[in-house]
Amino acid sequence: MRTAAELPVPPKLPPIAYGPLKLPSRWLLSPLAGFTNLPFRRIIREIGGVGLATTDLVNARGLLENSTKTQELIATCPEDQPLAVQIFGSDVDLMARAAQFLEARGVASIDINMGCPVNKVTKTGSGASMMCRTDETVSLVERVVRSVRIPVSVKMRLGWDDQRITAPRFARAFEQVGVAAVAIHGRTRQQGFSGLVNRDGIKAVVDAVRSIPVIGNGDVRTVADAERMLRETGCHGVSIGRGALANPWIFKQLVKWEATGSCDPTGSFDDKLTLLRRQFTYAIELRGPERAVPFFRKMAHWYLKSMHVAPTLRNAFQQAHTVAAVEQTLDEIAARGPTVGSRFEQLDEMHIPVPSGPVEHW
Ligand SMILES: Cc1cc2nc3c(=O)[nH]c(=O)nc-3n(C[C@H](O)[C@H](O)[C@H](O)COP(=O)(O)O)c2cc1C
Repeated sequence: MRTAAELPVPPKLPPIAYGPLKLPSRWLLSPLAGFTNLPFRRIIREIGGVGLATTDLVNARGLLENSTKTQELIATCPEDQPLAVQIFGSDVDLMARAAQFLEARGVASIDINMGCPVNKVTKTGSGASMMCRTDETVSLVERVVRSVRIPVSVKMRLGWDDQRITAPRFARAFEQVGVAAVAIHGRTRQQGFSGLVNRDGIKAVVDAVRSIPVIGNGDVRTVADAERMLRETGCHGVSIGRGALANPWIFKQLVKWEATGSCDPTGSFDDKLTLLRRQFTYAIELRGPERAVPFFRKMAHWYLKSMHVAPTLRNAFQQAHTVAAVEQTLDEIAARGPTVGSRFEQLDEMHIPVPSGPVEHW
């Protein structure tokens, strides 16, 4: 238990809502393509505390073609609520029709991606490059908002580069055309994932809107980081991506801290191994045994690193090609325990490396 004396004092803030959609907490799961899929979201939901989860970015065209890839990206289950689906694209008609398609499937909210820095996405005029074209972008967003009854949010960066900080202007314009909330990653497209998150830049977005919630995002890994994000920017909610990979208990910790000033510790090696095994089972349910094994490798990499599993066993996991081989490796990992500390101690919050600068791969 981390006591109130060790933690910052929680602020007293009203609950947040995306239009008519009331969120159970102000702590949101940020989309991480390749990670925040249904198996991971099920784990996060079971632990509790998350106010809204968003799918990985989904190509609006692929969605309308109903490709297998997009079907898996939007796969959900009754416990995975409330859920926003994040779409990207630069064709107004396709984006509006994709939003209607999702509304008809019962999705709670639509999120428009305006932050993706990857060239493959920006060169088609979508993702972060939308931040370079004001009128066109605002009318695309307005069209999506008008096409559906469910709330529409936008996730963006501060701007393309330091010379073009356009997020405050966009946020104001989006509010005027009916956007229900904006999430803002406090970096420019030029920065990629390098440098520090600019909380003053996020504050400028908060100051630019009248009443919609602004969700602050970037580098939040602990309760203290979340408190600082709220205090320094005045944002209404916080979204957490990589911090949730390192510590899936973070949303539960934040909810308890907000209510009581204290929070429970993160899990141990054994707790995390239990989550990993359960998530692997959910991956098999989603993709079938053969496709689940390669699908799960990237995720397992971070789990096993954060659990201080010996490199030889991590390697053995990556070489396993069948469910039986994966399970056998997991049994060995369980028997061996962590290389540092004990299997019952709280795990450190791990630093998760990410690509730096404008990137081709997230
Ligand atoms: C591997 C990876 C995948 C990402 N995928 C998406 C995505 O699909 N859509 C999106 O809006 N942002 C995406 N992001 C950005 C995150 O949502 C988030 O804005 C960024 O990582 C900063 O928040 P964090 O420090 O809490 O992770 C991705 C980031 C990473 C590292």
